Amino acid sequence: MARPATEARYAYDNAHPSARRHLASLSAALDDFTIGRLTHLDLTSRRCLEIGAGRSHVPVWLAEHVGPTGHVTATDLDTTHTGTHPRLTPLRHDIVTEPIPDPPYDLIHARLVLMHLPEPEKILTRLIDALAPGGILCVEDWHIQPSGVVLDAPTGQQRRLFAAYQHEVNQRVFQAAGSDPNWAPRIHTTMRAAGLRGVDTAIYAPVWHAGSPGLQISLTAIASHRDQLLHGGLLTDADLHEVTKLVSDPDSGLVVRGHQLYSTLGGKPHH
Ligand SMILES: C[S@@+](CC[C@H](N)C(=O)[O-])C[C@H]1O[C@@H](n2cnc3c(N)ncnc32)[C@H](O)[C@@H]1O
Repeated sequence: MARPATEARYAYDNAHPSARRHLASLSAALDDFTIGRLTHLDLTSRRCLEIGAGRSHVPVWLAEHVGPTGHVTATDLDTTHTGTHPRLTPLRHDIVTEPIPDPPYDLIHARLVLMHLPEPEKILTRLIDALAPGGILCVEDWHIQPSGVVLDAPTGQQRRLFAAYQHEVNQRVFQAAGSDPNWAPRIHTTMRAAGLRGVDTAIYAPVWHAGSPGLQISLTAIASHRDQLLHGGLLTDADLHEVTKLVSDPDSGLVVRGHQLYSTLGGKPHH
């Protein structure tokens, strides 16, 4: 059951020893696609806001493209991993409980943040309120579909093991923390119904091979949520050890369907 916003908790912790690798893996897996979505926008002199920046290169890329009179603010609960650039200001900020800092913005981007928070529609509405007339909102989130995940594995037992592991992560890490697995496909309608124009969604559907950044994120789930993953009784310590080897050894033969990233852009009317 979704928790009220006041109890919102992001399932991971940027201070955990595995966070650096986790956030770097997300950046390596997704930045090229995201930059491809933003590259056609006229960013010169724009004020941009990146929500929940993590270790993504996107805010630095924006800072490189806004020119000397533009600026980027990059927020996160913990900005330890945020990139640096003379036109980039990292800001410790909680998007659930605090007002949006210093609006309005010409571009607001949030990737893999709203999906982790209860009541993402409310946050999306607040982001739209913080846009300048003509400003663009880009929200990107994973649609995590548990069935049919494994495309190839060395044995049937390993295929079933990874599928069980993925099921447990979805249930005991993401959903237990309050994330709504069906949020991503709702972003488009939510933006359009909120009055944004030209709403456009692209879906990035990667395939992840063992050793790739997309599969490396499993290592964080195992490192930081071992107890929850074991709690359901579906997985044992030995299973988690085997999943660790399967995802990290590039020669293991594991190939999975990556989570689909829904990337939705919409513009605020000029009047
Ligand atoms: C899954 S990571 C995604 C990082 C980055 N956006 C990316 O896609 O590579 C989610 C990030 O959102 C941050 N976050 C979670 N809850 C937040 C909140 N309430 N306010 C601001 N940032 C938050 C986390 O600290 C983390 O850095």
